[in-house]
Amino acid sequence: MEDICVIGLGYIGLPTSGHLSSKGYNVLGVDTNRDIIEALKNGHVLIEEPDLKTLIKDSIHRGKLSFSLEPQKSDAFIIAVPTPIFENHTANLDYVKQAIRNILPYLEKGNLIIVESTIPPRTIDDVVVPLLQEGGFSPQLDEVFVAHCPERVIPGRILVELNENTRVVGGYTEQATRKAANLYRDVIQGDVYETSAVTAEMVKLMENTYRDVNIALANELAKISHHLGVNAHDVVELANMHPRVNLHQPGPGVGGHCISVDPYFIIEKAQDLSPLMQTARKVNLSMPDFVVEQIENMIHKNKQSTISVLGLTYKGNTDDLRESPALIIVDKLISKGYHVKCHDPHVKQNMTDLDLFSLEESLTGADIAVILADHNAFKRIESSIFTKHMGTPTIFDTKSCLQELNGVKLYQIGDLSEYSDSKYINRVSS
Ligand SMILES: NC(=O)c1ccc[n+]([C@@H]2O[C@H](COP(=O)([O-])OP(=O)(O)OC[C@H]3O[C@@H](n4cnc5c(N)ncnc54)[C@H](O)[C@@H]3O)[C@@H](O)[C@H]2O)c1
Repeated sequence: MEDICVIGLGYIGLPTSGHLSSKGYNVLGVDTNRDIIEALKNGHVLIEEPDLKTLIKDSIHRGKLSFSLEPQKSDAFIIAVPTPIFENHTANLDYVKQAIRNILPYLEKGNLIIVESTIPPRTIDDVVVPLLQEGGFSPQLDEVFVAHCPERVIPGRILVELNENTRVVGGYTEQATRKAANLYRDVIQGDVYETSAVTAEMVKLMENTYRDVNIALANELAKISHHLGVNAHDVVELANMHPRVNLHQPGPGVGGHCISVDPYFIIEKAQDLSPLMQTARKVNLSMPDFVVEQIENMIHKNKQSTISVLGLTYKGNTDDLRESPALIIVDKLISKGYHVKCHDPHVKQNMTDLDLFSLEESLTGADIAVILADHNAFKRIESSIFTKHMGTPTIFDTKSCLQELNGVKLYQIGDLSEYSDSKYINRVSS
């Protein structure tokens, strides 16, 4: 195998293209977005990810990586297109279907097709294989080899994890599994496990559902602690001293297109059998309202207040705004009439309709600063920045970024006792 087409050049497809080409494969990166292709052809990488720019430029320079709007004949096709959800919380597989249709004219017997996009259980069997059959290929007879290999990298460490993470490879047939697994064995250091396509689909979805459910548990703890006048962070820290307990930290909600989306792919296929997953989703979706309620309490619902929002992305140290609870919180605050000044060192102005400010501009004259993303830059902010620019500095840190700061009133999402409406509050000693 020498030539690989990677379909979709986003957060997954572009690093994958770079990685495969660095291992000696001739890679054609394909995307339907003309701007992305033009930018890449000119050596511009639009995604913020450590070392990615260098890797891509180097691969182009060595003649191992090129870009196009159209696929070409290849030994393998790797599909890394989006799999969002519709408003009714069912999977939108339109991009996957289109990607398969787009490669059909270039497909030849013996080719390998790997779907890396996250997909609902049975998508390979019920959606991908029938499309290939319509195109005249018989995956069950191994005329083409079809497999699912879910991607599990974390933004900010994508290139490291692409190489080091274990991979689960599930083929439609045993031969397909083996062929796909061998490709990964050739290019990564992590272990490669072979299974069926539907198992691989469920593995990925359960990983993120596990995280969603556990984050919901921590968020529920934050709300209960608020009600009872308990510091949830202390509870988490002390409970985690138990050798078999690993409570997560509460936060402003769950974002990104993985944890906040993937559980729906299972729920859609097993509505009556997934009450726990559905409740976890509801708890996490309720967190932006909880945060807004606490902010309003802290500023005494004074509509003249200016609110500095620090961090818009769904997680720290990335520029990824997808499904970010911070955006929901900002939206709710603005629609309630507050003056909101957002700052995010990772987000560029052309990525959002919100007006972005420098840190100092955002804090100047603000009645409260609310931290909604755990960027490293925020963990390093010194108290003097707050005291210099804010009258009476009040910080609501929903991501546990800050420790105690001199001259600054600091509230954390798990420790809101001052604002608690709890009838128990006086019984809890601090
Ligand atoms: N980003 C992550 O951290 C991450 C982690 C694990 C899994 N995933 C999964 O990987 C998949 C891709 O995610 P992403 O973050 O890279 O998405 P993305 O939106 O960053 O990139 C997808 C790219 O695919 C392109 N595209 C859409 N339809 C196409 C088609 N028919 N042909 C060619 N290109 C097409 C889009 O223009 C876009 O550039 C999703 O299923 C996602 O859930 C993502």
